[in-house]
Amino acid sequence: MGVRSSIEQVTKSVMGALVPEQGEKDILDTLQAEHDEVQDLLKRLTQSETAREQKSLLNQVKQALVPHSKAEEEVVYLPISALSEEKAKIDGAEGFTEHALASATLMQLDKLTPNTPEFKASAKVLKELIDHHVEEEERNIWAQVKENFSSEQREQMNRDFLAAKKRVTVS
Ligand SMILES: [Fe+2]
Ligand SMILES: [Fe+2]
Repeated sequence: MGVRSSIEQVTKSVMGALVPEQGEKDILDTLQAEHDEVQDLLKRLTQSETAREQKSLLNQVKQALVPHSKAEEEVVYLPISALSEEKAKIDGAEGFTEHALASATLMQLDKLTPNTPEFKASAKVLKELIDHHVEEEERNIWAQVKENFSSEQREQMNRDFLAAKKRVTVS
């Protein structure tokens, strides 16, 4: 091994120890960061005054929201819904229902012309739906996750979540 490659090797292992792999994070930290991102995009979308910016922001919302929701259903909602407690089953089913409503609103918004009253109204409804959904999810679903899954399991869920997101294609 040459000097350069041994230096690279050492640098890599030191950096690896300092900066944990993304997959070692708790899934709730990943979900939190993604919720913040989507909520910020939706806030900007409803405040935007130009068609060009609205189009761009809507596209960013789609790219962020669709993979997040699909992966969340697979890695979080399904295991929560499979728990024996009725409250968990209801929380899981509520999550699925709200995702379906958000998805239908997003599809409708995608067909509208930016910077029209209809587009602005639909964007406002989507923002309100997501704000409500995130608030309840972070309270109810996350309480179920914390209660029923160990930190090791939540790290595994994070790896599964990131992998599931990669399988989602957004048109
Ligand atoms: Fe979420
Ligand atoms: Fe969700």
